[in-house]
Amino acid sequence: MKIGFFDSGLGGLTVLKEALENEGLSEEIYYLADTKNTPYGIKDEEFVKKVIYDNIEYLIKIGCNPIVIACNTATSLCINEFRENYNDIVFIGTEPAVKVAADSNMSKKILVLATSITVRREKLLNLIDKLNIKDNVELLAADELVTFAENINCNNMKNEINNYIESILSQFNMSEFSHIVLGCTHFPIFRDNFYNVINKINPNLDIKVIDGARGISNNLKNYINKIKGNKKYVQGTKKITIVLTSKNNDFIVRTKQILANDKIEVDYKLQ
Ligand code: DGL
Repeated sequence: MKIGFFDSGLGGLTVLKEALENEGLSEEIYYLADTKNTPYGIKDEEFVKKVIYDNIEYLIKIGCNPIVIACNTATSLCINEFRENYNDIVFIGTEPAVKVAADSNMSKKILVLATSITVRREKLLNLIDKLNIKDNVELLAADELVTFAENINCNNMKNEINNYIESILSQFNMSEFSHIVLGCTHFPIFRDNFYNVINKINPNLDIKVIDGARGISNNLKNYINKIKGNKKYVQGTKKITIVLTSKNNDFIVRTKQILANDKIEVDYKLQ
């Protein structure tokens, strides 16, 4: 089985890492990063949709099925259409983990951070409506975190990143919140930064910073189990192929930093 993963850039690696490390995924994996067009969240929706379609068609052409859309922005823009248009392919999408937060504690509010496209699309708004939690949810675009995550010097930019996060959180009275939902797959790269800033604002705050990676990799595991039975999760070295849409050496360095696991062997190729 060839499994496709797709994101505009590095963000989907947070999902892939979860699937490889916690679920022991050991299938043939192709991870397509649209390095040519990242970031998506601040761009024109029609343009973004077109490039997402091109990328998904590439993954289908090389034989990937299922395809994990490891990108909230692409999921909110396209997944319903994909399921209609490519009905022999299984798509596993990414949604902000709003339900997880809502199920665990609704005595306080939830702050959802995502890209500009995700926060304005009906997919997320419908989910919040369906859960009937509108009055307890604040939505905010935090696109700058995508740019920080893709930056080769990211690990030396702690102050800038923390200041940006603080500028976001200081717009709210954080003592009213129990959860921050990271609704973009790039954002979990900064989970520690979020906790540092929360602690700086007030060490007594009890706020969980959550994302959807575990849920997505569970969905993937359940699907593979259904198709192949329970035997395919084996220990050992995992091999993945990362396909880039433009040459980008910084991406390769950042991939090593993010995956940081010598049991994962990575090959790179240009689309
Ligand atoms: N990682 C993506 C997401 O989950 C895309 C971010 C972007 O390219 O703006 O939304």
